[in-house]
Amino acid sequence: MNIQTINISMKNDLQELIDSTVYISKYSGYTEMRTAEEDILEPELPANGIKENARLECVYDETNEMVNYCQYYKNYENNNTLFLGGFYIKRNKQKNGLGKKILKMYEEKWKQEGYTRIILQVDIKNWVGIRFWFRNGYNKIIKWIGDLEYLDNTYAMIRLEKII
Ligand SMILES: CC(C)(COP(=O)(O)OP(=O)(O)OC[C@H]1O[C@@H](n2cnc3c(N)ncnc32)[C@H](O)[C@@H]1OP(=O)(O)O)[C@@H](O)C(=O)NCCC(=O)NCCS
Repeated sequence: MNIQTINISMKNDLQELIDSTVYISKYSGYTEMRTAEEDILEPELPANGIKENARLECVYDETNEMVNYCQYYKNYENNNTLFLGGFYIKRNKQKNGLGKKILKMYEEKWKQEGYTRIILQVDIKNWVGIRFWFRNGYNKIIKWIGDLEYLDNTYAMIRLEKII
């Protein structure tokens, strides 16, 4: 398995993976899912972000199925920090150790590129996600974002940090 840059010819594989993870919109309350084509051609950027720093990458398994995609932004705040905007394992491939294995591959690559700090945001209602990040070393909360009161239709996120 290796990390590949996603290009437009991979659009259908990416769409299938995105469709399998639609269930997580209930954690964020955000129901407008972006299409694979939008993600490839018009990446989401942080405020004042530039397209050149945005990356959309993926991993295919040995059966040639796209099992992971990962969106991130390089040089966020400074040259040592990378903002991990999205990390997904195809729904039917979860809970099999793939997430941990593939995350390690990305972290190795980022280390080699000179990054020492990875930050990300995760929805509080996504406790499978929080558990995954915590168990993989993203265990420092550096920011709290969102609603103050817990209700069925309120949402919040935490920003987590790992020094690699
Ligand atoms: C969060 C996410 C990336 C985790 O991916 P994953 O491939 O399921 O991760 P892993 O398999 O490495 O680990 C998940 C759990 O499965 C367990 N596991 C690993 N191999 C296993 C096996 N063969 N049988 C049973 N459980 C197993 C791991 O120990 C881990 O358990 P833990 O939570 O008790 O530590 C995945 O659930 C996902 O894509 N979710 C949707 C998107 C999302 O929420 N992204 C993160 C927020 S931005």
